Amino acid sequence: MHTDLSNYLCGKTILPVLPSSIDIDMTNVCNQDCYYCNSADFRAKFLDTPHVDKFIDLIDKLAEWRTHTPLSTGTVRNINFTGGGEPTVHPQYHKIIEHALDRNFLVTLITNGSKLDKLAKNLSPEKAQRIIWIGVDVDSAVSKTYEDIRQSLTTYNMLDRVKANIKLAVQAGINVDIKGLLMEHNTTEEEITALFKMVKDTGARQLHIRPMYDLQTKKIFEVTDKLKNKIQAISKLTDVKYNLPENRKEPRTYTKCHQMFLYTIFAANGDVNVCCESRGDRSFTIGNWLEEDVRDFWMGKRHMQVYNTVNTMQCPPCKPNKMNNIIQKDIDNSSLLERQIM
Ligand SMILES: C[S@@+](CC[C@H](N)C(=O)[O-])C[C@H]1O[C@@H](n2cnc3c(N)ncnc32)[C@H](O)[C@@H]1O
Ligand code: SF4
Ligand code: SF4
Repeated sequence: MHTDLSNYLCGKTILPVLPSSIDIDMTNVCNQDCYYCNSADFRAKFLDTPHVDKFIDLIDKLAEWRTHTPLSTGTVRNINFTGGGEPTVHPQYHKIIEHALDRNFLVTLITNGSKLDKLAKNLSPEKAQRIIWIGVDVDSAVSKTYEDIRQSLTTYNMLDRVKANIKLAVQAGINVDIKGLLMEHNTTEEEITALFKMVKDTGARQLHIRPMYDLQTKKIFEVTDKLKNKIQAISKLTDVKYNLPENRKEPRTYTKCHQMFLYTIFAANGDVNVCCESRGDRSFTIGNWLEEDVRDFWMGKRHMQVYNTVNTMQCPPCKPNKMNNIIQKDIDNSSLLERQIM
C-alpha cells in the first residue's frame, strides 16, 4: 500500500496517491473526561456533531474517489471511527458504521464502549463479523481506578455498562479488544491482573496496551523490562493474549512526514487534518470536508505546503512512525522499489 506513495515521492510516477486509511470523528462530544485526553482542548473549543447525512455523503465520496479521479493510484481501504470525542455518543453512529460496511470499507472503531450495545443490537451477523475490530478503552478494570482515570460524566456506572456491552458485542460476533494506556495508576500486579481477567470474563479477543503520552511533561510512560516481564507472566497465568506495540519508540529516520498522503483525519468540526496527533492544530489542516469535496483539494497546493513545511523533529511520538521509517528507506534507496516488478 505504501509502494504507490514511495513511487510518487521518488519521482517514478506523477499520479496522485489516494489515502489508504481514514480516521472519521463522528463527534467531539464525550461522556467521560479522561485526565490524559489529547483532544480535551480541541473538544472544548469545537463541540460539534455533524448530521448523519454528512457522514453518509463523505463515505460515498470516499467510495467513489477512483471514479472521481481516474488518474490516481492507491485506494481507500480502512475507515477507523474514533474521536474527537466518544463516537458512540453520535445518535446515529451505528447507521454510519453500517454504511461504511455497505460501501465495502474495512472498518474499525475506537470507543469507550458506553453505547456499544446499539451497534451490537442493530447489525446483522454477516455485517458484524466483517468489522475488523473494535477497541474498547478502559485503562482499568478496578472500579475506583477506572473512575480516577476516566472521570465519567454519566449517571450510570460506566465500568459495569461497558463490561455488559463488550459481552453483547462479542455475542454478536464482533472482534473486541480491551484497550488500556499504561500509566502510574494501572501498572501494579493487581491492576494488570484485573485487566486480563476482564478480557477473559467478557470473551474479548485480547488486551491491547500501550504507554500513555503525558501532554504536560511531553514524555511517554516508560515501559520498563520489569513491567514487560510482569505483563508477560500475568498473560501466561491467565491464558489471555496481549499486544504491546512499540512502533512509536523506533528512532525517526525522516524529517518530512510522508504518511500525510496515506492517512488522514476527518474531524467533527470539518477539519481535514493530516496529523493524527494534532487535532485542532490548523497548521496541519488541508481543507474542510463539511464545506468542500476532499477529492478536489487532496494533494493540492495547501497539502503540499504542509508536507514541505512540517519538520518531524519537533513531533511527539506517533502511530505512523513505523510507516514513515519504511517509506524513508525507499526514498533513500529507490532501487528497493524494483520489488514490485515480477
Ligand atoms: C481521543 S480517544 C477517542 C475515542 C474514544 N473516546 C476512546 O476513548 O476510546 C482516541 C484514542 O486516543 C487515545 N489517547 C487519548 N489521549 C492520549 C494520550 N495522552 N496518550 C496516548 N493515547 C491517548 C485514547 O486512548 C484512545 O484510544
Ligand atoms: S473517552 Fe476518549 S475522547 Fe473521551 S475523554 Fe476519554 S480519551 Fe478523551
Ligand atoms: S506527529 Fe509528526 S510525524 Fe507523526 S503523524 Fe504528526 S506530523 Fe507526522
